[in-house]
Amino acid sequence: MNNHLTRNGKEFTIRRAGEKDAENIINYAKILFSSTDQVLTTLPEYTITVEEEKVWINNSLKNPASIILIAEMDNAVVGLLDFSTKNRKKMAHIGEFGVSVHPGYQGNGIGQKLIETLLEWAKNNRQIEKVFLNVFATNQRAINLYKKLGFTEEGRHIKAIKQLSGEYTDIIQMYIETK
Ligand SMILES: CC(C)(COP(=O)(O)OP(=O)(O)OC[C@H]1O[C@@H](n2cnc3c(N)ncnc32)[C@H](O)[C@@H]1OP(=O)(O)O)[C@@H](O)C(=O)NCCC(=O)NCCS
Repeated sequence: MNNHLTRNGKEFTIRRAGEKDAENIINYAKILFSSTDQVLTTLPEYTITVEEEKVWINNSLKNPASIILIAEMDNAVVGLLDFSTKNRKKMAHIGEFGVSVHPGYQGNGIGQKLIETLLEWAKNNRQIEKVFLNVFATNQRAINLYKKLGFTEEGRHIKAIKQLSGEYTDIIQMYIETK
């Protein structure tokens, strides 16, 4: 577990998620999905049960090339990051992550600290050589953060997203090498 301070001097912690966090993560994710159209999952599609969430967390804990991090403040989940590699041997050296911060806590440095914690872990993990992510081209806030941390654009999926409004958005893939 690591303690950190927000830009306003409030304490938050970052640690690996455990089975006991399953329900809190689900409740957090529901708030997140209903707050933004810049992520893939829509709220009605998010039907995971607490038992299924526990399986997901336990599978990640068992896999040395996978990690789920939560940020906590005031005893509540305020941020989430999950990273995993593909199962196939020839792609086992690369992995993808997704990150989010509770809408009431964004802009305080929590997202940055979650990603920095992942990159530190990846540097010390013998298997992981490259970390990548997919971001909507309209998500300027997230793109700014990734660039600031050293990620580079490597590709673009044209019109990969069709928002509920009918508007198309490209997906940008960004990466950083950790070895
Ligand atoms: C994107 C997200 C994870 C960033 O987390 P965060 O905790 O809000 O970000 P931080 O406070 O750590 O910000 C760090 C950097 O991000 C960028 N950033 C943050 N807020 C920003 C804003 N309002 N406008 C532009 N850039 C912004 C800046 O580069 C900032 O660094 P700086 O303050 O030194 O300039 C968060 O806003 C979020 O969860 N958004 C909704 C879900 C989402 O889009 N997830 C990413 C999907 S790919």
